[in-house]
Amino acid sequence: MPETKEMKNRDVLVLGIETSCDDTSAAVVADGRRILSNVIASQIELHGEYGGVVPELASRRHVELIMPVVKEALAVSGWALDDMDAIAATQGPGLVGALLVGVSFAKALSFACGRPCVGVHHIEGHIAANYLSHPKLEPPFLCLVVSGGHSHLIAVETPTRHRVLGRTRDDAAGEAFDKVARVMGLGYPGGPAIDLMSVKGNPAAFRFPRVQFADAPYDFSFSGLKTAVINVVNQLRQKGDLLPVADLCASFQQAVVDVLVNKAVRAARECGFSTLCLAGGVASNGALRRNLELEAQKNGIRFFVPSPILCTDNAAMIACMGTIRVKAGFAAGLGMNAEPGFPLNTV
Ligand code: KG4
Ligand code: ZN
Repeated sequence: MPETKEMKNRDVLVLGIETSCDDTSAAVVADGRRILSNVIASQIELHGEYGGVVPELASRRHVELIMPVVKEALAVSGWALDDMDAIAATQGPGLVGALLVGVSFAKALSFACGRPCVGVHHIEGHIAANYLSHPKLEPPFLCLVVSGGHSHLIAVETPTRHRVLGRTRDDAAGEAFDKVARVMGLGYPGGPAIDLMSVKGNPAAFRFPRVQFADAPYDFSFSGLKTAVINVVNQLRQKGDLLPVADLCASFQQAVVDVLVNKAVRAARECGFSTLCLAGGVASNGALRRNLELEAQKNGIRFFVPSPILCTDNAAMIACMGTIRVKAGFAAGLGMNAEPGFPLNTV
């Protein structure tokens, strides 16, 4: 239900824009915690036939979609552009052409309505999705961020100070899901397809590697695991065997989940965090959500995860983090540019 105009006296209203990859999204969030609208236009159909995101096509589709998506987000929220207190956009990391659409549009809106624009780090946005699903959540906490482009263990020390404890040394978890799914002909994106298929499979049917690093216990590696699955698939095909797709999916997924759960819980215990959060597109994965919650419980750690729609890319999480940043005095100004390799902010 739209808010009344009087609520403006109490709430900071931020319009968020997310265009870092293949979702064009705009959202209005009140006070950084309440979603008034969250419109997501997916480009999955466009990229599906290529088996992955085609950057140039993504940018062009963002250009087409950004205006209607923003208009709809404002209309659903019940507020006008002039009512916004700030415009937030994903500044990076991501595909440069895709980011430029959102950043340029945010700057134009900011210029038009005279409100500040603020750049948001995409990973910080994913972490912030937890504040939307759990409005009482406050740092410090440990967050496992797993998406198509990132696998990070991050110490959230304050709402604007994030410290990376571990990261992937090669493929991101979601990237491994997508590549393994592609080899088995399960389509794009692969994560949801493998999640679904795994329900019917035996997670112990194949024993795939779980990589550990003696010198960096919180770092991840998924490329060896991905290659191991692809090798088994190729061997079975060469022999002319029918692929046990469900068993392969379940065994691969279990290997990813084991590594993520073990490292996240270990990091929480060793670094003294009593709260653990999960975020990013792969956080929609049913087995990961269940296993991490169970293991956190066993270790006396509180566990939080956003609702699935807030795990994959969306602008509500960007508006949420934008509100935090604008309240902390980090407005960007009209010089803001897209930063495809944006380092995680430790301001
Ligand atoms: O956060 P996101 O929407 O975009 C990036 O920032 O990368 O994450 C997309 C990734 C894709 O790799 C997709 O396959 C994966 O999240 N994903 C999943 C599931 N849903 C999405 N992975 C495993 N299980 C899922 N249910
Ligand atoms: Zn993302």
